[in-house]
Amino acid sequence: MSDKMHLKLTVNGEAHETLAEPRELLIHVLREQLGITGPHIGCETSHCGACTVDMGGKSVKACTVFAAQAQGAEITTVEGLGAPDGLHVLQEMFREHHGLQCGFCTPGMITRAWRLLQDNPSPTEEEVRFGMSGNLCRCTGYQNIVKAILAAADQMNAMKEAAE
Ligand code: FES
Ligand code: FES
Repeated sequence: MSDKMHLKLTVNGEAHETLAEPRELLIHVLREQLGITGPHIGCETSHCGACTVDMGGKSVKACTVFAAQAQGAEITTVEGLGAPDGLHVLQEMFREHHGLQCGFCTPGMITRAWRLLQDNPSPTEEEVRFGMSGNLCRCTGYQNIVKAILAAADQMNAMKEAAE
């Protein structure tokens, strides 16, 4: 008898059902079973943050979450952040401020930054650095990532004010 569980989860607003072994990691379910490849696999040991997704309103490293823990969860990945007609402001600011080079860390960085700005819409530079400290980048030296996030915060706040 298979010990696979019937896993139901919502990713980027879309309901998914699949079979997974309870010990299987969420990152593998997302990438290999659901074809959602925005979250990357870097270290698989909870160090690099390349696999960061948003689960139940919190940033999590999907290489440290078992499929069983994701039962019924609402998950957002980088694919779910952009508007249908274009990029999310964070993505635009990463591009404008050169917050990426090879791009490997970028989906995790942007997904984490998105949660950071949901929780703290006007962070200081220090708060951005602290909030992003679980995400590693081997290319950029972080300066431009921090600039991009601060610029995105300004733009998102301006958009919110304009809409009020
Ligand atoms: S792949 Fe998950 S933290 Fe590195
Ligand atoms: S842009 Fe290459 S690891 Fe961050």
